[in-house]
Amino acid sequence: DMGGHDTYMHKEIYEQADAVDRALRGRIDDRFSTVHLGGLNLDARDARAVRRVKILGCGTSYHAGQIGAQMIEELARIPADAEPASEFRYRNPVVDPDTLYIAVSQSGETYDVLAAVQELKRKGARVLGLVNVVGSAIARETDGGIYVHAGPEVCVVSTKCFTNMVVSFGLLALHLGRTRDLSVADGKRIIEGLRKLPAQISEILANEGEIEKLAAEYADAKSMLFIGRVRGYPVAREASLKLKEVSYIHAEAYPASELKHGPLALIEPAMPTVAIVPDDELLEKNRAALEEIKARSGRILAVAHQVQEKADHTIVVPKNEHELDAILMGIPLQLFAYHTAKAMGRDIDKPRNLAKSVTVE
Ligand code: M6R
Repeated sequence: DMGGHDTYMHKEIYEQADAVDRALRGRIDDRFSTVHLGGLNLDARDARAVRRVKILGCGTSYHAGQIGAQMIEELARIPADAEPASEFRYRNPVVDPDTLYIAVSQSGETYDVLAAVQELKRKGARVLGLVNVVGSAIARETDGGIYVHAGPEVCVVSTKCFTNMVVSFGLLALHLGRTRDLSVADGKRIIEGLRKLPAQISEILANEGEIEKLAAEYADAKSMLFIGRVRGYPVAREASLKLKEVSYIHAEAYPASELKHGPLALIEPAMPTVAIVPDDELLEKNRAALEEIKARSGRILAVAHQVQEKADHTIVVPKNEHELDAILMGIPLQLFAYHTAKAMGRDIDKPRNLAKSVTVE
């Protein structure tokens, strides 16, 4: 039942405010400005002993993991990174007992992720799951973890689950931070930010009419560049994946800082750029990149906290705490991908060549 929506993708985009609310429910501890994650199975001593965090996933879940790694570094000051599970498992990785491994998966059945978990377990590592489907293979094989509580996701293209994954990483980063050096005041600030998310998501979705018009404006592109820096970069990668999956328009994501090392050669009016421009310490750097693109007659669509003068169009998103910026900035671009695909008559819920869960190698 699509409840009045034309596709599951559209329905699931609209379920995000409720889904995030569900991910937060019953987990916030105001007294200690932290969160309780019941199934984590990691006591305070274990949490303090973690020296590194390695996050593994595929596709959208890998992108959620990249954002999660940044949140863990920022809030808990633990070195963290994400890697595609399939790459990890084929490169004979060094498995370190002081590293906390986290497997991220919507379905909990993705073969490459499951195989990475099994290899890690066999070598004695501690592996947590950040999973949507309760009781799935990855949830069963991990030592503990966090259910992201996005609810059933039917569309092959992941939207609400991605958002709940990054919110869940925010919770985990806060929890790890508060067992280490994150202050009560910062913990409180992050909790307030998390609580604002559902209303801010609704605010973004209320802008759908404008996003639909923008999608029509850019739908003639054969290829699009997505750029962002640090917190904005994984957002750019995920937005680029969304667009290519659902519209089949070629899209490529680059860190904005790498533009001048190559991709700037592609810029011309027929090659639009989508730029993620949060109001953070990198704002001036991002603006300089927009200037470089404009000087070469590139069209620019910015997703930002304030209107960007150098951009042809800006989608303004509400500001949250800077550590949580990545959660909201991709949401308008889900609608952008949806409307682009719709205008092109694509099979939105079942893009060609793709399956909802990839249970083979
Ligand atoms: O079920 P999983 O989260 O493990 O799936 C991982 C990827 O196959 C998945 O995210 C894929 O990239 C989607 N089509 C994204 O929209």
